[in-house]
Amino acid sequence: MQGDDIDALNGALRARFGEDLSGPWPNQASAGLAALAAHSVHREFIDRPVDIELLRGLCALALSSPSKSDLQQRDIVIVQDADLRARIGGLMPQYPWVATAPAMVIVCLNARRLPQLAGWRGKPFPNDHADLLFNATGDAAIALAWLQAAVDLAGLGGCPVSEIRNHAAIISDWLGLPDKVAPYAGFCLGWPARNGTITRRLPLRATVHLDRFDDSDVRSQIDEYDAARAQASPMRRQRLAGVWGEAEVYGWSEDKARQYSEPLRAEFGAYLRARGFDMT
Ligand SMILES: Cc1cc2nc3c(=O)[nH]c(=O)nc-3n(C[C@H](O)[C@H](O)[C@H](O)COP(=O)(O)O)c2cc1C
Repeated sequence: MQGDDIDALNGALRARFGEDLSGPWPNQASAGLAALAAHSVHREFIDRPVDIELLRGLCALALSSPSKSDLQQRDIVIVQDADLRARIGGLMPQYPWVATAPAMVIVCLNARRLPQLAGWRGKPFPNDHADLLFNATGDAAIALAWLQAAVDLAGLGGCPVSEIRNHAAIISDWLGLPDKVAPYAGFCLGWPARNGTITRRLPLRATVHLDRFDDSDVRSQIDEYDAARAQASPMRRQRLAGVWGEAEVYGWSEDKARQYSEPLRAEFGAYLRARGFDMT
């Protein structure tokens, strides 16, 4: 690994976690690690199309990610049709970039293929329960993470869109998703219009445990994190100010507590049950 890459990697991790995590990185570690460390979502793009073959290549990289027991319980739908794209974007006008980003795909979890195999092979399938959904969701999430990483490493940028799950039934119908196949997240991508910024994460002492889970100090760790993050990148607006007022100190924990002070996607379980998922 080149000295410049190591400096970039260490610098990005410092900005991300507020502490020095300087390896020691193995010599064969590639510059890609620095790109992973510096990841940021992008929601603004220049007016440059993403070639469909490049998009298929990025999907291939996403699906090169590990899959539980090699079960491959995820699929990706490329949204190419302009009218379909406009309809999806129209469901979430608060995210105008969903309609206008150069490309969009939808990562789906697929819990249908495994029971299909059982039927074709004349085998029983006594596994139609919550673990089927959990495995397929994990597979989809891993593919989404690798898609984001591939996009970042290729010099493009993008942003996942779980907001599509607020409209899961209608989008499932538009995409022709059969029972036991559900959208996990959309992903909008293109060539970034500006440099990204590194979002500060919780300190590793709060999130990486040694041998035994321990959150006995988490309250003060999050207080510190709130203060550090407010200084590095204060939240641009206070969420639900009409309900909760303008806080003098508005940190990450206040923002997340406000975000989840209202029911969000509470009907998603009903959608899953209606689509053939058994969560017992
Ligand atoms: C599964 C998933 C769903 C997300 N859904 C949305 C979304 O609906 N709208 C949005 O603006 N950002 C969405 N994001 C982006 C996150 O808000 C973003 O990753 C987070 O703020 C951290 O920023 P960073 O990725 O730049 O570190 C999503 C991210 C993930 C992983």
